[in-house]
Amino acid sequence: MRSAISAADEFRGKVAIVTGAGGELGSAIASSLIEAGASVAWVGRRRTALVRQLSRVASGRKQSLAIRADVRSEAAVRGAVRATLDRFGKIDVLVNNAGARGPTQPVTRLSRRAWQEVIDTNLTGPFLFSRECLKHMERRREGCIINISSVVGHWAYPLRASYAASKSGLISLTLTLAEEAGAANVRVNAICPGPVAGKAIENVLEARARALGISIEKMRRDFMRPAALGRMATPEDICRVVLFLCSTAASNVTGQVIDVSAGYGLWPGK
Ligand SMILES: NC(=O)c1ccc[n+]([C@@H]2O[C@H](COP(=O)([O-])OP(=O)(O)OC[C@H]3O[C@@H](n4cnc5c(N)ncnc54)[C@H](OP(=O)(O)O)[C@@H]3O)[C@@H](O)[C@H]2O)c1
Repeated sequence: MRSAISAADEFRGKVAIVTGAGGELGSAIASSLIEAGASVAWVGRRRTALVRQLSRVASGRKQSLAIRADVRSEAAVRGAVRATLDRFGKIDVLVNNAGARGPTQPVTRLSRRAWQEVIDTNLTGPFLFSRECLKHMERRREGCIINISSVVGHWAYPLRASYAASKSGLISLTLTLAEEAGAANVRVNAICPGPVAGKAIENVLEARARALGISIEKMRRDFMRPAALGRMATPEDICRVVLFLCSTAASNVTGQVIDVSAGYGLWPGK
């Protein structure tokens, strides 16, 4: 029997778009798809970040296309999808991973502009990319969309209202898209990471410690208390679930919201 996670050749000939591919998680996801044999359009705002990440994937040059695009712009999203089709001829997988953290402030101090920026990036961006890719996927009667939400999309997240609302909205968008696109054999799922070890979560902890006026050490202890396994997830943990969701092993998995969080937040009393 083949391994439940796709064998290396399963993704050969497949084409994926990964947004936010210049960042920690996005670059890990794009690299893991390439290592599994897929071709990948790496989408991000900063070309230097994309090129830096891309240069780390030794075998990935031929299988990669770096596309500078802001996920908030309809024209840029259309352009990115067109460029991917021009280069690779089809799109099998879309990973909506780009995300903005937004400010760490109570709602009473949150500006309309800061609110909007996070909603536009984390929710409208996936809507625009999904809409554009679905035109193509529905025609081919095949496709897989993965939205990178967050465990905070399930709950309250004091001082991060725009982020939590955007991630909650993304879960809702996932469910509706899965229902709408199911008839065309397009699957749509969400992954909700808990804290993922890396630079991004360190920035979150620092901003939160500053806002609450506590030490970074206390912040780290408090922040990690809800994790049943007592640790952060890793980018590799998220990649493995992305690969599973794209694989034939998941051909009947759609409309699912999967936490990859080391059991973060299982007991509200913790
Ligand atoms: N790290 C965690 O602990 C954690 C936990 C839960 C969920 N997540 C989610 O995982 C995803 C990846 O986060 P990460 O930890 O890898 O953070 P990251 O390193 O900051 O990566 C985020 C990426 O998104 C890109 N991006 C932001 N705004 C964009 C825009 N308007 N258009 C195009 N790209 C844009 C950034 O590119 P530029 O810098 O070039 O703008 C950056 O490369 C996010 O959706 C995040 O919310 C992360």
